[in-house]
Amino acid sequence: MKAIVLCAGKATRLRPLSHSTPKHLIPLGNREILSYVLLQIADAGIREVGIIISPDTGARIREAIGDGAAWGLDVQYITQEVPGGLAHAVKVSRHFLGDSDFLMFLGDNLIEGGVAPLLKGFCESKPDGLVLLREVEDPRRFGVAELDEHGHVVRLVEKPKEPKSNLALVGAYVFTRAVHEAIDQTGPSWRGELEITDAIQKLLDTGKTVVSHILKGWWLDTGTKADILEANRVLLGAVGKTGGMTPVPGLAACEVGVSCDASVSGCRIEEPVSVAADCVLKDCCVGPYVSLGKGVRVTGATITNSIVMEGAEIVGSFTVEESIVGSRSRISVEKPEGSLRLFLDSDSSVELR
Ligand code: G1P
Repeated sequence: MKAIVLCAGKATRLRPLSHSTPKHLIPLGNREILSYVLLQIADAGIREVGIIISPDTGARIREAIGDGAAWGLDVQYITQEVPGGLAHAVKVSRHFLGDSDFLMFLGDNLIEGGVAPLLKGFCESKPDGLVLLREVEDPRRFGVAELDEHGHVVRLVEKPKEPKSNLALVGAYVFTRAVHEAIDQTGPSWRGELEITDAIQKLLDTGKTVVSHILKGWWLDTGTKADILEANRVLLGAVGKTGGMTPVPGLAACEVGVSCDASVSGCRIEEPVSVAADCVLKDCCVGPYVSLGKGVRVTGATITNSIVMEGAEIVGSFTVEESIVGSRSRISVEKPEGSLRLFLDSDSSVELR
């Protein structure tokens, strides 16, 4: 069994931050989103991993992940030259995959319980495809599955205007090599992409077996600022509750608490937080659900429910809430009124006088 991890998306919904930081490297609890995905793959017993990168952000991802040894993986990189869709990503990975069964994991999806149960299900029932489904509030944002009365998948539609169910396709799939032929028979969708959803439908139409698992736990699809903050809350909260124990594969890597290499004076810390080394916190209130990257400096401010990336500085007696602040940004407020909700790219500057 091999795995491919798709990290070539443009992340337009995460601008401006995605101009400087590939979305898969945005830190949650001081670990990159992609780091959790790789830990879950390693936990499922897979070693050979192909990370699909784009020409724009690929170098940054290579630099962060390297050969994957830190996760116990053997990582290779595959460049998807154009954003041609998820099935196109499988197409460009064909050389890496050979005839192997494989897990396809979107590099921005986090799943409670990891992917080991999925692979176990696949090995037991030996289908040509296995999809993971979860009930969602607004299925129109996702690929949607229609099941028959026995729970078998009968139809899959990508982002339907009138969804037939509230079961969305989660970004983790398992396939045999049969999917390659299905992809070859699939044409581009209305958005000009080769959709994996259409390829799975093709598997069904050609009499292949596709089984589904329903995910009961949380699923974090980190596409927007609100999604990222929600993921930060869930990860800090899940680890915080168990006092650093690991409730799901991968979460042990989330660094909850205040680093002993941080300097904290006259502050109120409300757990759960993740405060990295070399932070300098003075006369401030931090938390709950706050991740501060390495070397962040906070003087006087209250910060809740936010991610402040490495080297940023926040000065003044005001509140920062529901914010993502890019690396090395500087926020300084002299006469505060109310609170600030920020979404800043790296090296930004905000001054309120
Ligand atoms: C993709 C898939 C969709 C799936 C979603 C999960 O959507 O096409 O079927 O539900 O990932 O994250 P995209 O992120 O390309 O809009």
